[in-house]
Amino acid sequence: MAYREIYAKWQADPEAFWLDAAGSIDWTTHPQTALNATRAPLYEWFTDATVNTCWNAVDRHVLAGRGKQPAIIHDSPVTGTKHVITYAELLDRVSRLAGALKARGVAKGDRVIIYMPMVPEALEAMLACGRIGAIHSVVFGGFAAAELAVRIDDCKPKAIIAASCGIEPNRVVHYKPLLDGAIDQATHKPDFCVILQREQEVAKLIEGRDLAWHSFQYGVEPAPCEPVAGNHPAYILYTSGTTGAPKGVVRPTAGHLVALAWTMRAIYDCGPGDVFWAASDVGWVVGHSYICYAPLIAGCTTIVYEGKPVGTPDAGAFWRVIEEHKVRAFFTAPTALRAIKRDDPEGTLVKDYDLSRLNALYLAGERADPDTVNWASRHLNVPVVDHWWQTETGYAIAANPLGIERLPVKVGSPSVAMPGFDVQVLDEGGHPVPAGQLGAIAIKLPLPPGTLPTLWNAEDRFVKSYLTHFPGYYETGDAGYVDEDGYLYIMARTDDVINVAGHRLSTGAMEEVLANHPHVAECAVIGVSDTLKGQSPLGFLCLNKGCTVPSDQIIRECVQLMRDKIGPVADFKRAVVIDRLPKTRSGKILRGTMVKIADGAAFKMPATIDDPAILDEIRTALQSLGLAKPA
Ligand code: COA
Ligand code: AMP
Repeated sequence: MAYREIYAKWQADPEAFWLDAAGSIDWTTHPQTALNATRAPLYEWFTDATVNTCWNAVDRHVLAGRGKQPAIIHDSPVTGTKHVITYAELLDRVSRLAGALKARGVAKGDRVIIYMPMVPEALEAMLACGRIGAIHSVVFGGFAAAELAVRIDDCKPKAIIAASCGIEPNRVVHYKPLLDGAIDQATHKPDFCVILQREQEVAKLIEGRDLAWHSFQYGVEPAPCEPVAGNHPAYILYTSGTTGAPKGVVRPTAGHLVALAWTMRAIYDCGPGDVFWAASDVGWVVGHSYICYAPLIAGCTTIVYEGKPVGTPDAGAFWRVIEEHKVRAFFTAPTALRAIKRDDPEGTLVKDYDLSRLNALYLAGERADPDTVNWASRHLNVPVVDHWWQTETGYAIAANPLGIERLPVKVGSPSVAMPGFDVQVLDEGGHPVPAGQLGAIAIKLPLPPGTLPTLWNAEDRFVKSYLTHFPGYYETGDAGYVDEDGYLYIMARTDDVINVAGHRLSTGAMEEVLANHPHVAECAVIGVSDTLKGQSPLGFLCLNKGCTVPSDQIIRECVQLMRDKIGPVADFKRAVVIDRLPKTRSGKILRGTMVKIADGAAFKMPATIDDPAILDEIRTALQSLGLAKPA
C-alpha cells in the first residue's frame, strides 16, 4: 500500500490500525482494546495489556536465534576504542544488572536516574530498569549539578547510575563531583549510587552510598523480565518548557513499543540484522528512541558513537563509521552536517569512504535548512529525509516514510503527517487556516500510542501547557504552514524555547539564572540566528542603579554562572549591558523585536512599545558584538 492509502486506513479506524501494529510485539497479555478514552482529553493506549520492554528489545531476539548478532557497537574515537556486544552478551549483562538493582531493593515503579556519557552501559542501565519495571530518567551529561538536582527532586529516584567521567574532545567531564554536588543540593536523597569507573578517571566513592558497577553485580541472581501494565511509564525524560522547571515527559510502555516498531519499518525501512545509527546522545529523546529502544526492538544493530562530527579526528568521522559498520540508516541533526560542511565544503572526505550500504540519511532536531539538505544529497547520493518530532511524541509526527513509499522530497519540508497524527494549522482563535498560511501547529486528540499521556507528577501542567489553548488539540509549540499537497513546513517556536545545535533550551530558564546575579536588576535572553548551531543564546542585562562593577566582568560572571547552573550545553557565551529593556506599555518584554534587530531582519515598530528610542540603543550594543547587521 502507498502512503496515502495507509494514512487513510489509519483515519478510517485508528484503533484497528494500532491493534494491527501491536502484532509486531511479544505480549504477556495481548491488548484487547487499543484506546482508553475514559478520562478524555487525557488518553491512554493498550491499558489492558501486559508486556516487558526489555524482553522485546533483547530476550526475544536471542530466543529467535540472533544471539550472535551484534546488538550494540560502541565506537569511541575520543577514547580510541571499539567494542561489540552481541544480543546474547547483552542479555547476560542486562539481566545481571537488573538482578543487582533488584537485590538492592529497586522494584517496579521505582525511579532510577541515569547520568552517563555515550557508553553501552547507559543503554544497559535503561534496559535493566525496563526489565524489572523500574522507571528510568536519563539526564544529559552536559547538564550541570543544579539541573541534575532539579530532576532528582522531581522524580525522587531510589538509585542513580552514573559514570566516573565523560570525554569531550577538549576535556574530561568529571561526572562524579557533579553527581555529588547535585545530591547535596537536592532535598531527596537516593538510597544508593552505582558508578561505572572508566579508565580515563577513577572517581572516589562515598562509603555507604556509592557502589562500583562491577562489584555491585558480583554474585547476584540475574533478574527475569517483569511484565508491566501497558500504561506503566517506561521512562521520564525532562525537556525544556517556558519556565525554569523542566517538564517530565512520561513515556508509556506498550504504546512506545508498538509505535517504535512501526516506525522502524515504515519510516526507516530497517529490519532484523540491519545496522542503524543515530548520532545523537542518550540524554535526548532521539537517543532514547533511536540509539537504544527502536533499533533493538527491531532486532537491528545499534551504534553508540562517542565522538563528534568534526575534530574526532576530522570531518570524515561520520563517513568512516558508516563504511566500517555498514550502516543502512543514519540519523543526525542538521547542525552536525553544517559543522562537517564548514570543514569540508566540497565533500572531499566523503569520497574516501564506501557508503554503498547507506540507504538514507535522516535529519531532525531543528529545521533542516535547504543548503544543508542539498549539500548532503549531492555528496551522499541517498535520499535525505527531514522529519519533525519532539520529546513529547518520541517519534516522527511528519516524515517521508521510505519503508512505505518514497514520496517526492520538498526541500525545507519534513514532508507529510504520519498515521496517528492529524496535524492542523490553526489561527489564534483555533480555526484551521488555508494552505500556505502561517499558524500554530496543533494535533487533533487523541495523540497516537507512545506519545506522552501526561507530565510526571504534573497533570495540571500537562493540561495547561498542551491541551488548553486549543481545546480538542495538542499544542505543539511550533508554528508553520501546510502546502496544497499536505507537506508541512515547521518555521519557528511559538514559546520561549530555542534550539541550539539541535538541543532544546528554555530562555526562561536562562533568564532565571541571570536574574540571580547580584548586580543584575532585569534581564532577557533571546535566540539569535547562528550559521552553525541554528540559534545561539544572547543575554541582555540591566544592572542595579549605582553598580560600579565593570560590565565586562559582570558578563564574564554571567557566562560562568550559566555553565555552573545549567551547564556547558546551554552554550551561553554572549551578553550585552543596556539601560532598559524594550517593553510594551503593559510591561511585556519585546523579545521578538530584539531577535529581529539582532538578526538584521526587517521589523515593524510595535504599536504598543513604551519607548521606541530604546531600540537604537539595543542596535548599537549588538553591533559591538558584530550582530544587528542589515541582512
Ligand atoms: N557532556 C558534557 N559537556 C558537553 C556534552 C556532554 N555530553 N556535550 C556537549 N558538551 C559541551 C561541549 O564540550 C561544549 O563545551 P565548551 O563550551 O566548554 O566548549 C558545550 O557543551 C557546547 O557543546 P556543543 O553543542 O557540542 O558545541 P560545539 O561547539 O562543541 O560543537 C557541533 C558543535 C555542531 C559539532 C556540535 O554541537 C554537534 O555535534 N552537534 C550535534 C548535536 C546533536 O547531535 N544533537 C542531537 C539532537 S537530535
Ligand atoms: P526536542 O523535544 O528536543 O526533540 O525538540 C523538539 C523541537 O525541535 C520541535 O518542537 C521543533 O521546534 C524542533 N524540531 C525538531 N525537528 C524538526 C524539524 N525536522 N524541522 C523543524 N523543527 C524541528
